[in-house]
Amino acid sequence: MCGIVGYSGSRQAVEVLIDALKRLEYRGYDSAGIAVCGKELQVHKDKGEIAGLEETLPMLKGTVGISHTRWATCGRPSKNNAHPFVDCRGKFALVHNGIIENHIALRKELQARGHKFTSETDTEVLVHLLEENFKGDTHEALLESLKKVKGTYAVAVIRLGSKEVVAARKENPLVIGLGVGENFVASDVTALLNYTNNVLYMMDGESAVITPGSVKLFNESGGRVEREPTLVSWTVEDAEKGGFDHFMLKEIFEGPSAIHNTLLGNLNEIVTGDSIIDSNFSSVKIIACGSSYHAAMVGKYLIETISSIPTTLEFASEYRYSSGAKEMPLVILVSQSGETADTLAAAREARRRGCQTLAITNVVGSTITREVDEVFYTHAGPEICVAATKTYITQLMALYVLGMRIGHSHGALSHDALRLLRSELRSMPQYVREVLENAAAIEEATDMIVNARDVFFIGRNINYPTVLEGALKLKEISYIHAEGYAAGELKHGPLALLNPDMPVVAVCIRDHTYEKMLANLTEVAARDSPVLAIGYDDDTELSSVANRVIGIPKVKPIFTPVLIAVTLQLLAYYTARRKGCPIDKPRNLAKSVTVE
Ligand code: F6R
Repeated sequence: MCGIVGYSGSRQAVEVLIDALKRLEYRGYDSAGIAVCGKELQVHKDKGEIAGLEETLPMLKGTVGISHTRWATCGRPSKNNAHPFVDCRGKFALVHNGIIENHIALRKELQARGHKFTSETDTEVLVHLLEENFKGDTHEALLESLKKVKGTYAVAVIRLGSKEVVAARKENPLVIGLGVGENFVASDVTALLNYTNNVLYMMDGESAVITPGSVKLFNESGGRVEREPTLVSWTVEDAEKGGFDHFMLKEIFEGPSAIHNTLLGNLNEIVTGDSIIDSNFSSVKIIACGSSYHAAMVGKYLIETISSIPTTLEFASEYRYSSGAKEMPLVILVSQSGETADTLAAAREARRRGCQTLAITNVVGSTITREVDEVFYTHAGPEICVAATKTYITQLMALYVLGMRIGHSHGALSHDALRLLRSELRSMPQYVREVLENAAAIEEATDMIVNARDVFFIGRNINYPTVLEGALKLKEISYIHAEGYAAGELKHGPLALLNPDMPVVAVCIRDHTYEKMLANLTEVAARDSPVLAIGYDDDTELSSVANRVIGIPKVKPIFTPVLIAVTLQLLAYYTARRKGCPIDKPRNLAKSVTVE
């Protein structure tokens, strides 16, 4: 996820471009850049946040320009990898948000034709394609260039000597702001509210040409589109969180696109065979902390179920003090931030022991990426709220893909089985969307827990980690004491605690543990604890053992941890909101834990 702004008008563009860009910093903040069209194309970019860029900004004179704040996806955060990119002749500057999947092949072709590249990014191919395709019309050249590209984009371009900003989008947002004698384009309406609240939302496949006095909108085949502008009622303050009350809620609702981005590219590579995943190992160890550890626990079930390769788990903080036995597993380290001190120490220890290491992380260029043999990026975009939400479900996605890959390369998963799993995985964004559509029912269900002092979460098998994660989410943001338990363990002690004031949240999916779960719920009901059950939405039996039921779409049991995690994230969020807690920044917690 990155932020884009474009301006064409009569003010000095630099002022608008920097001010508007700052409002998009939630979309990325590892590097930033700006290009302004004056007598020449002036570009200034650097690693780090926009404030840093601003401090070193030279005089950029001109009334047309583009700017960009980056969240690295391809190429680590650095000055060279920051946008905008300029073609070899210094005519075009371009900014991009999205992922160009076929950039390696395109880069090779362009290099063979003499183009010189200055960055490691996927984006740079676009500006070189533009240079090749330009025959006097920037819009036509952009459309021609985009035809060669596989992937997703929101892109904005300026050309030396022109007042036009040309933009196009596919699966990444762009909105046009309409002013008087000036027009704008941006990734999000947030950026524009200081200047206008009269906007045109661009649709997928559309492109636009913006000048100070006109805005022309085009469909995928280049035909003109007429659309009535929308008057946005948001204030600048509302818009920082995209209209959501908290970053946490916004980030939960970004789940479908985050999943989509994690799968993009990675899913097609399952059968390519040029990764350490395909090497000869007979066991796997997954190491992580906190929520990432819960994702790792789901990963253990997945890898063992799909590939039959024995998989163990270890807390990062424990691994370095363990004996290490004589095993040589493939070590997978899971860390959203890539900066957690314990996980970094575990990565170093694993390598010291001679193991091959792979990190699953969301942050390109984070420390862990330099400590391991291979990296799997989740591409969930920046997560501002301290509590992990979209990054948790994208870690699960990464583990599905890796599990399938291990299963396939170790001969445990046939092509047909792989095809079926892959097809269900591709539908996950839609299933998560269905869970989000049920948010009002989940919010209502908070009646059952909002006044409780303690809450139990129970589940079995692949959803045992899910209930640990549900309990962690509730305790960290609502400050209600919550415990996750393997449902079968309840009768070995904790049953003593159950009473009418202690609600139990139970995950009860129709899989091979279903009958046992129903029996556990009967035990709970016998102690008069109120039961909130989460099961398939076509399950009519659950209401006989639960006080309230929340349904999820009927996916294969192996995929239910994603949908239930989102349900429990919403449950924790609405509970904390009713209690008036500081949701995005819970007390005593930090987003990345850089001490051991
Ligand atoms: C809880 C949460 C933490 C992190 C943990 C590890 O919502 O976010 O438990 O999961 O601190 O962080 P990463 O994944 O950055 O290594």
